Amino acid sequence: MPSNAQANNSDDVPAAAIKDSGLEGFNLFDPEVQQCPHAYYAEMQKESGAFETDVFGTPIYLVTRYEDVATCAMDPSTFSSRFDAGGMEGNSEYGRRAQELYDAEGGYERIGTMLTVDPPEHTRYRRLVSQAFTPRAIAQLEPTIRDLAGQLIDQLISATSQGKPVDFVEEFSVPLPVAVIAKALNVPEDRLADFKRWSDASVAGIGTNISIDERLAADREIIQFQKYFAEQLESRRDSPEDDLLTGLLNATIDKKADEGIDSTPLEIAEMLSMIQQLLVAGNQTTTHLLGEMLLLLEEHPEEWSRLISDPQYGSDVADEALRLAAPTQGMFRVATEETQIGSTTLPAGARVVLVYAAANRDPEVWKNPDAFQPTRDEQAKHLSFGKGPHYCVGAGLARLEARIVAEELGKRLSAISVTNRTKLRYLPGFVLRGPERIDVVVKGKGGVSGG
Ligand code: HEM
Repeated sequence: MPSNAQANNSDDVPAAAIKDSGLEGFNLFDPEVQQCPHAYYAEMQKESGAFETDVFGTPIYLVTRYEDVATCAMDPSTFSSRFDAGGMEGNSEYGRRAQELYDAEGGYERIGTMLTVDPPEHTRYRRLVSQAFTPRAIAQLEPTIRDLAGQLIDQLISATSQGKPVDFVEEFSVPLPVAVIAKALNVPEDRLADFKRWSDASVAGIGTNISIDERLAADREIIQFQKYFAEQLESRRDSPEDDLLTGLLNATIDKKADEGIDSTPLEIAEMLSMIQQLLVAGNQTTTHLLGEMLLLLEEHPEEWSRLISDPQYGSDVADEALRLAAPTQGMFRVATEETQIGSTTLPAGARVVLVYAAANRDPEVWKNPDAFQPTRDEQAKHLSFGKGPHYCVGAGLARLEARIVAEELGKRLSAISVTNRTKLRYLPGFVLRGPERIDVVVKGKGGVSGG
């Protein structure tokens, strides 16, 4: 990717040129590819089938066309989510050292629950978690989200009142989702900093190539997380509260409705895994979405003006930002048998990535797919939350957060200026994609100063 200026996600022209070597030299972990992979995805979409690439000696198949991605996502028996089978990676050096660490420090067994299991086990977990993470529980978070968003925006107004920029990622889009999920999990104020570290540790090894020591340092944090929440869960057996943790403890599956699903209630280690997945899947993704949405609004003054005059437009803005800037670029699957995707034959055991970010810009589905058009008709079809049995558990919450943030930005601000646009860098990593820092100066409406 030649220029940082191209690292943004939308334009009315194709995202950017690809390297001279084209797809020949494509490397998923090339930091420059990661700055802006869309032009590569567009190139891959020209061929029917999956694009085969090599990651550390293992072939990986990238599925990029909308119909193919959707079809694979709906077929968990052929495209299994057990991509990390072997838990702590069996006999690898990391696996051995991680096991020793968990044994020595009293960590709980790490159990695959939602993201990494298939039906029918997966169905049991989804049934149980949906009793705790209900639309009502999500809707109850609305006042918290609105208060937090308002406070953080007001702080941005006063912090930048002299024209000196602050980092929107650090000051707004990181703290907001962490505070929201912490509220849902009833984490007290004085543990918020710990909670943030645990959340970061939970995603440290996903789609990145960090060292074994770094992974083990993250595991140490995860063990602390496990101990804290195990204690909280146990305490709710005697003193239930109106919260997600109590919901998980009380969740049951009706034994009478024999659907071939194990009806055993959740064990503590399973609940810990589910809570950890809420952090893994929910925090950085939402952070990235909020940052991207701000960038898109600043980049498109006509959409920004419309939002200022009609904050309700926030819902469309949020969904179009999700389509264009999918925070979860793709998710892994493993082919359980030899299978065909378009012109490509995948062997049994093939590692596959469903590239949601590519599918979201498939020209077969969207006209002018690289353009930011919040009013487009087919917008809700985007695959940023996946599709099928693994469809995002937190989609309702993520949408609520993004909508409220857009509304509050439109209500409270008259101007946003991003001062590092030409130097924007995206965080390294392939699965999660989002800007490292966004320097902004903002102005409140009618001379309102925050604080
Ligand atoms: C913009 C924000 C978000 C994006 C882009 C996003 C994206 C996704 C995607 C693409 C999947 C499907 C994974 C697959 O295909 O294997 C997924 C699953 C999941 N998401 Fe989200 N997510 C977001 C926010 C959240 C939030 C806020 C939560 C919870 C608080 C959450 C919890 C989960 C969980 C637990 C799963 C696993 C579901 C399963 O495997 O059955 N996500 N998410």
